[in-house]
Amino acid sequence: MGDSTAAQPSLRVLIPRDRIQARIEELGRQIRADYGDKPIYLIAILKGACIFLSDLARAIPGSVRFDFMGISSYGRGKTPSGEVKVTKDLDVSLEGVDVVIVEDIVDTGVTLTYLTHLLQQRRPRSIQIAALLDKPSRRLRPVHAKYVGFTIPDEFVVGFGLDFAEDYRNLSDICVVGD
Ligand code: IMP
Repeated sequence: MGDSTAAQPSLRVLIPRDRIQARIEELGRQIRADYGDKPIYLIAILKGACIFLSDLARAIPGSVRFDFMGISSYGRGKTPSGEVKVTKDLDVSLEGVDVVIVEDIVDTGVTLTYLTHLLQQRRPRSIQIAALLDKPSRRLRPVHAKYVGFTIPDEFVVGFGLDFAEDYRNLSDICVVGD
C-alpha cells in the first residue's frame, strides 16, 4: 500500500476563521444599514458561496430571503474552462425587489458579468454584489462588488466554500494551496 498523504498539496492559512467571522458580521450590519427596513433577496451562487451565504444571512438583521443559482464557469481544477452556463435557475421572481448576489470570489469577473446581465432582465429594483473575496489583479471584466470581505493577491485559495477539484470546501479558514 502507498502513502495516502504523499500526493496531498500543502495548505497555508491566508485568512483565519475569526477574521472571516468578524468581517461577515461587519458586512451584515453594513448591508442592513444601506437597505433600511426593506426586505433583501440574497442570491447565492452554488456551490462556493453557500458557506458565506449561511453566515451572511444570519449577520443581516431584519427581513432576508435567499435562493440559489448554479453557474458553471470552471473545470475541475484551477483552470477556467472559459464557458459560463446556468446549471440551476431560481425558484422565485425578482421583479421589484432588492437583490444582493452572494459570491465566494470575484476573479476574472466573467461569471458575475454574465449573471448580473441575466438577473437585470428579471427587473429587480436594484442589484448589488457581496463577495467574500476579491482578486482584482485577475480582472478581465469590470465587475464592482459593493460589499467585499477581503481583497487578496493572485493566489489560488480554498476553504470556506471554495474548492480545488471539489475538495477543501469544508475548511473554516481560507488557505492557499501550495505546489
Ligand atoms: P470568475 O468568473 O473568473 O470571476 O470566476 C469566479 C469563480 O471562479 C468563483 O466563483 C470560483 O468558483 C472560481 N475561482 C476563482 N478563483 C478561485 C480560487 O482562488 N479558488 C477557488 N475557486 C476560484
